Amino acid sequence: MKVIIPVAGFGKRLRPHTLTNPKVMLNVGGKPMIHYIIEQLINDNIASSIILITGFLGEKIKDYLNSAFNFKFTFVEQDEAKGLGHAVHCAEDSFNNKNDEALIILGDTLFDVDLKKMISNEHSVIGVKTVDDPKRFGVVEKDERGYIRKFIEKPASKEVSPSNEAIVGLYYLKNSLQLFDSLKYIMENNITVKDEFQLTDALENMISKGEKMVTFYVDGWLDCGKPETLLETNRYLLNKHQKKNRNSFKNTLITEPVYIGDNCQIENSIIGPFATINSSCIIKNSIISNSIIENNSIIENVILESSIIGEAAIVKKNSLQINLGSFSEI
Ligand code: UTP
Repeated sequence: MKVIIPVAGFGKRLRPHTLTNPKVMLNVGGKPMIHYIIEQLINDNIASSIILITGFLGEKIKDYLNSAFNFKFTFVEQDEAKGLGHAVHCAEDSFNNKNDEALIILGDTLFDVDLKKMISNEHSVIGVKTVDDPKRFGVVEKDERGYIRKFIEKPASKEVSPSNEAIVGLYYLKNSLQLFDSLKYIMENNITVKDEFQLTDALENMISKGEKMVTFYVDGWLDCGKPETLLETNRYLLNKHQKKNRNSFKNTLITEPVYIGDNCQIENSIIGPFATINSSCIIKNSIISNSIIENNSIIENVILESSIIGEAAIVKKNSLQINLGSFSEI
C-alpha cells in the first residue's frame, strides 16, 4: 500500500509555533505529531512506501523522520500550498502501476483506529466520525445503499446537513489512476474553493465516473490543528501512555498523567495533570497543568494552565514591590 501524507500547509492556526516549526513537528504527548502516524504505519506493516508532501520548513520533517525511523521515505515538494487536492496530486509520480492503491492520511490528525480493518474493504473507504455539529465539518451524503454520493463542506445548519458523518482525514482509494485523473480534471478546469484545489471535489468526480465509496467509523479522531485541539490530543495521549516509574524532583509534586523529557531540572513546583514537559527544560516555583512546554524552555514563578510554550522560550515572573490601595485588583 502506498501512503500519501500531506504536510506542506502553513499551519496558520497554530502560529506563532508554526513560524519556526512545521505543524506536524509540534510536540504532543512527548513526540512530534507526525511520529505517531508513521509509527502506526510501520508497526501495522501497512505501507510499502510512504510519500510525504512537504513545503514550508519541510527539511525539518525530512531530517527528523530519517533519523527517527529506519524506513525509506519519499519526499515530494509542493511548490505552493494550493490545497489538499493539489498536495495529493504531487504524489502522482510515485504511482505507476494501475493496481496501486492509495491511503491518504492528513499529517496533522492522529487516529486511534484499526487501519488494517479499514483497508480490507472491497470498495474505496472514507474515514468519518459522527458529530453533533456538522456545520463545522465536511460531511458525506450517502445513497440508500450506503454508497457516498456527495461531499458537502460546512453545511449551513444541522437541519440542512445531509448527515452528521464528518470527514476526518483518512481516505483509502482503490483506484489511484482514477484519483490522479480526477485531480487533473479539477485542476485543468480550475475547480477551487477559496482558491484551493479540494480533494473532495476530485473524489466526487471519481464517484461520477462510477467509483464506489463507503464510510468507515473512526472513533479515535485526534485533531491537532488548533491550540485547543492540540491540548486535547495531548491529554488523550498522556492518558494512554502513562508512565509507571518516574524520577522524583526536589520539592515537587507530580500529578499524573504527565510526560517529562530527559535532562529537565524541576524544583518547588506542581506538574500536572496533563503537562508535557519536553527535554532540557528548567522549571522553578511554578504550577503547570494541561500544557505543552517545548525543549529547552525556562519557566519560573508562574502558574501555567492550557498553555503552549515554544522551544527555548523563557517565562519568568519577577516578584513585585508594590504599594497597593484597598479594593485594587492586579
Ligand atoms: P489544513 O488546512 O488543516 O492545514 O490541511 P494547514 O493549511 O497547514 O493549516 P491552517 O489552516 O493554515 O491552520 C490538512 C493537512 O494537509 C496539508 C497540511 O500540511 C495538513 O497536514 N496540506 C494542506 C498540504 O500539504 N498542502 C496544502 O496545500 C494544504
